[in-house]
Amino acid sequence: MADKSFEKCILCIGAGYVGGPTMAMIAAKCPRYEVIVVDINARRIEAWQSDNLPIYEPGLLEVVKQARGRNLFFSTEINEGIRKADIIFVSVNTPTKTFGEGAGRAADLQYWEKTARSIVAAADRDKIIVEKSTLPVRTARALERILSANDKGIHFEVLSNPEFLAEGTAIKDLEKPDRVLIGSQETESGLRARNELVDIYANWVPRDRIITSNVWSSELSKLAANAFLAQRISSINSISALCERTSADVTEVSNAIGMDTRIGKRFLNASVGFGGSCFKKDILNLVYICENYGLHEVARYWESIVRINEYQEERFVRTMTRVMFNTVADKRIALFGFAFKKDTGDTRESPAIYVTRMLLAERARVVITDPEALENARRDLAEEKGDVLYEQDPYSAAAGAHAIAVLTEWDLYRTLDYKRIYDSMEKPAFIFDGRNILDHQKLHELGFSVFPIGRPALKHF
Ligand code: NAD
Ligand code: UGA
Repeated sequence: MADKSFEKCILCIGAGYVGGPTMAMIAAKCPRYEVIVVDINARRIEAWQSDNLPIYEPGLLEVVKQARGRNLFFSTEINEGIRKADIIFVSVNTPTKTFGEGAGRAADLQYWEKTARSIVAAADRDKIIVEKSTLPVRTARALERILSANDKGIHFEVLSNPEFLAEGTAIKDLEKPDRVLIGSQETESGLRARNELVDIYANWVPRDRIITSNVWSSELSKLAANAFLAQRISSINSISALCERTSADVTEVSNAIGMDTRIGKRFLNASVGFGGSCFKKDILNLVYICENYGLHEVARYWESIVRINEYQEERFVRTMTRVMFNTVADKRIALFGFAFKKDTGDTRESPAIYVTRMLLAERARVVITDPEALENARRDLAEEKGDVLYEQDPYSAAAGAHAIAVLTEWDLYRTLDYKRIYDSMEKPAFIFDGRNILDHQKLHELGFSVFPIGRPALKHF
């Protein structure tokens, strides 16, 4: 039971990029609820208890500090948390399977299943279980089977409540979500549980933004939303390749098509490729599910989104090599940014990993700079053979370099002193702007040969 001073006890299993921020927001907005976040990773929990949080996310520390110690608690006592909680969110990782059937595509559900079994073992009364992790459609059925295989007479009601936050803007997304989606069974207990969850979010989310559906629609909507977002990026990236051949400018094209209100402006920035822990994993999972249902054409359609992304990453490095006189061997290349997007230290599936590997295969000397992601970059590249340096300061990274490649759209890269950078580099000096964030004309005037994505190159030779 929740401590007497609290109305309800909410537990979240999994203190990662989703579990930590979502629970911090619930705790900050609902002081009447006790919110406990547990994890098997003791170091992570320790970091959540400190001011040096395990993830970098603008505004997160302030929200955590608002509630931590008051009604927000981080702990490794998973069983105790399960016993205490009325509602349990499961927010463990669901990566792509790397072994056995479905390897490379299906979701690896082992962490999630272990969590379900811990819940059954430790619980001693009825509970609401909320799927927060992104899961294959119809996972709730399997979850129910595991949970109901208990001889304690306990009823677990399973809800689906996928998370739509994006990293770097997690706090804003949680505070003012476009929508909160809650899927439930249409049974009496299902609807009762659904209403309990609606009541939690209604503490700060307008009612018309809290939408409900059946469980399967909710599970599938999460995979479909990520697939649609990634599809927009692959669509504009495919057009960027054509722009480079035809002297069309992809920023003008995306502006022109985005002004059609049916298409909309957002998520049309051509780039070196999309990264992040979820787009690729969720699309491949969707592909796997379609194949399981015999929908091979549908599977091929979604698979092509991932293929175009790989093509875009590869194309970026090929352009670098080609324009730098067909060799980057022994050339110092400064990578500006390693995180998969700005305002996060997360590097999971970052295009920078792929670009670095390809440059190292070409025997380039790679220098990586990033304001938040160097520690993760070191870990990602620990096994790589070749010449890699890590520099916090972008000026030091660029000094003596033959080329700069902008891989993350950090604001700080827009305002650097590029004259100073140009003067410190080998000549001819190249800039490959994988995010189209720099003032290309100005850089060209400073002496750089500039290669944007999907826009005419500005060369000095
Ligand atoms: P993460 O890897 O950052 O965190 C998951 C945590 O779960 C880890 O700290 C891990 O130690 C813990 N864990 C694993 N097994 C456990 C167990 N048996 N008991 C207790 N803790 C356990 O992952 P994440 O990025 O937070 O993603 C979690 C889920 O949310 C995934 O399904 C993901 O697809 C989805 N999602 C992620 C994002 C995002 O921006 N990262 C956004 C929306 C949805
Ligand atoms: C994405 C979704 O936006 C979230 O709604 C979802 O909850 C989350 O995945 C998830 O399920 O994990 P996230 O990956 O954190 O969020 O970040 P995005 O802003 O979606 O960016 C993903 C990648 O696409 C980044 O590498 C970004 O640089 C790239 N991108 C984005 C582009 O290349 N062009 C764009 O126009 C937009």
